[in-house]
Amino acid sequence: MSIISGFILPCAHIIYRALLTILFAIVFNTYYLISYFLFLEKKKPNEIAEVEHPVKALGWAARDATGVLSPFEFSRRATRDHDVQLKILYCGICHSDLHSIKNDSGFSPYPQVPGHEMVGIVTEVGSKVEKFKVGDKVGVGCMVGSCRKCDQCVNNLENYCPQSVFTYNSIDSDGTTTYGGYSNIMVADEHFVIRWPEKLPLDSGAPLLCAGTTTYSALKYYGLDKPGLHVGVVGLGGLGHVAVKFLKAFGAKVTVISNSAGKKQDAVETLGADRFLVSRDEEEMKAAAATLDGIIDTVSAVHPIGLLIGLLKLHGKMVVVGLPEKLELPVLPVVAGRKLVGGSLIGGLKEMQEMIDFAAEHNILADVEIIPMDYVNTAMERLERGDAKYRFVIDVGKTVKPE
Ligand SMILES: *[C@@H]1O[C@H](CO)[C@@H](O)[C@H](O)[C@H]1NC(C)=O
Repeated sequence: MSIISGFILPCAHIIYRALLTILFAIVFNTYYLISYFLFLEKKKPNEIAEVEHPVKALGWAARDATGVLSPFEFSRRATRDHDVQLKILYCGICHSDLHSIKNDSGFSPYPQVPGHEMVGIVTEVGSKVEKFKVGDKVGVGCMVGSCRKCDQCVNNLENYCPQSVFTYNSIDSDGTTTYGGYSNIMVADEHFVIRWPEKLPLDSGAPLLCAGTTTYSALKYYGLDKPGLHVGVVGLGGLGHVAVKFLKAFGAKVTVISNSAGKKQDAVETLGADRFLVSRDEEEMKAAAATLDGIIDTVSAVHPIGLLIGLLKLHGKMVVVGLPEKLELPVLPVVAGRKLVGGSLIGGLKEMQEMIDFAAEHNILADVEIIPMDYVNTAMERLERGDAKYRFVIDVGKTVKPE
């Protein structure tokens, strides 16, 4: 008895303690190793978004400033009370998508899913959604959020809200980066979703969400929407060709001003412009001096504006909607002719709806080339060298599908 209690029991106790320690070490280290690898797994940059939201989405993203786009699995948030979830069918390629994937502004986040001209079909609505039901055709443009309280927001100018959230590359209210329309699913607050008119085609209508809003809002605000005015459109690209169509619908006489003489036939015969000027042809430009009531300048590259200002009559207005780094303003002709040079940035949500309804009523559509998603990198190259007539639209519905 004394042997058992004096030797074997303490011995068994030591063995028991040692076994427990070994067992604990095995369990703990296995747990640690497994979580370590899981953690590493989660930290892969392309999958960061994957763990944040519950709705699986598939898009095409640029991973770095080369701007090359490739398939990207990410996620969208669950539909909130005021949210609309849509299946994206088409998304236009805006020139700013190209600038953005290439980090031209210097603050592009990656991975980056561009696209702010998306249309689709509502697949789910939150409990407090009033404007939409499942199956409705809808569109989402450049914005998905704003403070909804400031003077601008209260006056339907959400596009000028200091806290506006853009459709991609912005920080959303939940702190995550927004992803755009080069993807199969979108979720947005209904305030930022547009009712799609029944008779407006989805594919060629999609570019209106950015290009249409930008030109329509600028022309309206500066009073260049009155019948009988003679208005110039500088640059015949995605924005310019839509501006010509709106101006014709407003009853304006239109002069297209482009640096490429090759666009004359298209401008006059296809788009119905009344006159065409080659901006580099100084004599032609001077001969047309003081003939325009207004100009909408859609060019995004730095360009001289002296001769353009010269085209304006007394009290003429030049509205800049492109985003060149800077433009050199010749002051004397502006002062002497009581002219005005102004700017305009996209449009508020109320005006977007008005624009899209106006476009449907007047049969205004973008001229588009529909492409499959895997053509996007080629499309970007063509856009870069000006080889687009006039907007590429991605057939997201048929060509972005999870396997
Ligand atoms: C984007 O450009 C900025 C400014 O040139 C640079 O600091 C930044 O590193 C660039 N980002 C990427 C991902 O290349």
